[in-house]
Amino acid sequence: MKHRKTVIVGNWKMNTDVQSGINLAKQILDLSNNITNVEKIICPPFVSLTSIAKVLKGSSIQLGAQNVNPNENGAFTGEVSTAMLHGLVSHVVIGHSERRMFNDESSDQVAAKAVSLSKAGMNPILCVGEDLSIRKSGKAVNFIAKQLEASLKGFSNWNSLIIAYEPIWAIGTGEAATSAQAQEMAAVCRNIICNLTPDLGNSVRVLYGGSVNSKNVAKLLEQPDIDGALVGGASLNAQEFSNLIKLASSK
Ligand code: 13P
Repeated sequence: MKHRKTVIVGNWKMNTDVQSGINLAKQILDLSNNITNVEKIICPPFVSLTSIAKVLKGSSIQLGAQNVNPNENGAFTGEVSTAMLHGLVSHVVIGHSERRMFNDESSDQVAAKAVSLSKAGMNPILCVGEDLSIRKSGKAVNFIAKQLEASLKGFSNWNSLIIAYEPIWAIGTGEAATSAQAQEMAAVCRNIICNLTPDLGNSVRVLYGGSVNSKNVAKLLEQPDIDGALVGGASLNAQEFSNLIKLASSK
């Protein structure tokens, strides 16, 4: 029995419009609001956050955003600051490989986001992950250790942190990492945190993400260092996502 509470996060990415997002959130709420031994977070697109916050108000499901700009305000066209998200969401996904890839986000920038979120009292869900060529070259452990350390530069609010190990080769491919591969890398992440904060390292939650569904989630959650899942595609189907939460709750 792990002492860390399991957490299941749905990352909707750039899917749903405002109305379909409200509908999806309502369905997830209907099917899983009564499961309380799992922490549940959904991360819709920015434009849906205010309406979905109303749907989730007073429920057991928390709301997250998918990105944030660490600057307080100013001339950053198209960006959303921590101050804007404050009071609206409890969690923010940062450092997702899609943003590192398509928006050229560096680990330095991810670290700035983590620091700014913690100052504002929000919880970062910090993603790290290697691509297939790094995995094949046998350098994944080293790469993840470096990426995680760099993404945490200046950060110290360990109680607020959730880490997600998401190998790029497993995202959206239907080919999840094996539970042994996911465990190995989750342990690498935990070791890094334990080195940075010996007292609190063992209470930081480490999630796995990459083609998680209701068929593979149980096996992943059996691993000693995997405390939950960051779910993409399967979080867009209320029944599938709720099944996954139910399976996590019986772990
Ligand atoms: P999939 O579950 O669709 O593979 O996406 C994983 C992911 O990137 C979640 O952030």
